[in-house]
Amino acid sequence: MFDAPGQLWWQHAVIYQVYPRSFQDTNNDGIGDLNGVLQRLDYLSETLGVDAIWLSPFYPSPDADFGYDITDFKAVDPRLGTLETFDALLSEIHARRMKLIIDLIVTYTSDQHPWFVEARRSRQSAKRDWYMWASPKQSGAPPNNWQSAFGGSGWELDATTGQYYYHSFTKHQPDLNWRNPEVREAMLDVARFWLARGVDGFRIDAAHWILKDPDLRDNPPNTAPRSPVARALGEYDSQLHLYDKGHSDCHEVFRAYRQLIDSYSTADQPRFAVGEIHIFDWQEWVKFYGERLDELHMPYNFGLVGAAWQPEVVRGVVEGMERALPAGAWGNYVLGNHDEPRLASRLGAEQARLATLLLLTLRGTPTLYYGDEIGMLNGEFTPDQIRDPWGKNNPLFGRDPARTPMQWDASPNGGFCAEGVAAWLPANPDYATRNVEAQLADPRSMLNFTRHLLRLRQNSRTLQQGAYRTLEGAPQGCYAYYRTTAGERLVVALNFNGREQVLPLPSGGRVLISTHMDRGGRTERELRLRAHEGCLIALG
Ligand code: NOJ
Repeated sequence: MFDAPGQLWWQHAVIYQVYPRSFQDTNNDGIGDLNGVLQRLDYLSETLGVDAIWLSPFYPSPDADFGYDITDFKAVDPRLGTLETFDALLSEIHARRMKLIIDLIVTYTSDQHPWFVEARRSRQSAKRDWYMWASPKQSGAPPNNWQSAFGGSGWELDATTGQYYYHSFTKHQPDLNWRNPEVREAMLDVARFWLARGVDGFRIDAAHWILKDPDLRDNPPNTAPRSPVARALGEYDSQLHLYDKGHSDCHEVFRAYRQLIDSYSTADQPRFAVGEIHIFDWQEWVKFYGERLDELHMPYNFGLVGAAWQPEVVRGVVEGMERALPAGAWGNYVLGNHDEPRLASRLGAEQARLATLLLLTLRGTPTLYYGDEIGMLNGEFTPDQIRDPWGKNNPLFGRDPARTPMQWDASPNGGFCAEGVAAWLPANPDYATRNVEAQLADPRSMLNFTRHLLRLRQNSRTLQQGAYRTLEGAPQGCYAYYRTTAGERLVVALNFNGREQVLPLPSGGRVLISTHMDRGGRTERELRLRAHEGCLIALG
């Protein structure tokens, strides 16, 4: 693999998100486990060829929010393995010259975490102030109008002590009080624990929710016209979230995390943190890099996930990020994750290929979501099969559809778990035809397309580091851009619609890959893009 001087691994890596409970079950409980990830490492490193794994939560959890409600930040859920399994997995990942970043949950614990159990015992408890408590209003109503992102008030009354505690998400995830120095120390110590074990970095969960308005002011109403999706969010979207997240004090916390992470970084092992930051105002978003680039190495850029799939909108996201990035900061792109509908369901199979070409040829670190490389589709469920707490409150936002078991082959349960074992979420029945094994045998499959593209990126300094510039004059329905270094000019040309289009190029060139996987060779100055076709071209 090309190893560019001056380029840190997380800048030239392609990250692959493994949602471990849905990847591979090896102990016949229907829940994927760390040993399962270990068994599939050859697939990730050799067959597919990604550079880094982001492992979603594997900590002990009562599963109110499937691993994001944690009872012990320094342990492995026994259903998923042990610390020894974790160490074995990490060392096998490193043996393959890959990196591992893990989900670091910082904003809340489980309500069954010993800290919270202690905190709710009495108002005098030594851990009381570790969480956000407030007394009811005179009327008995919650202290303010803040809402849980999953629906309903964010405040839950604790009958024993007569106060409310705050939860940004489910009521089983009480938010920590980051203004308490003991909390801060205990949480930084969690990061130390995993850094000392050797992880290469973190995906910091719900990062900008970490600190709220200390005066607990009411959020003002949102009077802007709202989209149908936003309206479906109900009460949550009827407020402007000025006070319930993103308090400017959170930047100081990220500087502390960065110092800690840097103190574990060496020339051989630079460590890294990417934050889950759902902010779509670029000026606000870039603040998470820090004024002196001393906060997160990258805030996740979700611009493409919610974007209407139109060339001018996509172009706007790319140019928006390019323009906003401060000097020295490194960007990134995401098309899906465990919180979003499946890419191929959102865009359709053809445009999912186009989107993958975009993701893997832009300037910035790409993150792939497990299963998108074979075009997995949203799962469908009967009401009694719904597991996701958000989906239970509001089926429109259910996230189970994107969390179904990885489809490895045509055997029962798609090879995710043994025959006769009930998977925690049923495999999508299309596993019989849509699976890794079948797609490896088909030279033009989505999987082979993605593999090919990953290799092109890994061997191209221009794709990894080259400058980005929009190619002006693309016909309607198309978006095209250059990626250039001193010695090379690449063009990526994307046709977003179902009609053939002709794109004038500045010179002829060589087609390195087409989404249709059926052409190579030279192209003249007029590039004919078939319906839904995208091409990567080396000019000259
Ligand atoms: C962010 C995670 O990505 C999401 O899956 C989870 O539900 C929330 N944090 C709340 O725990």
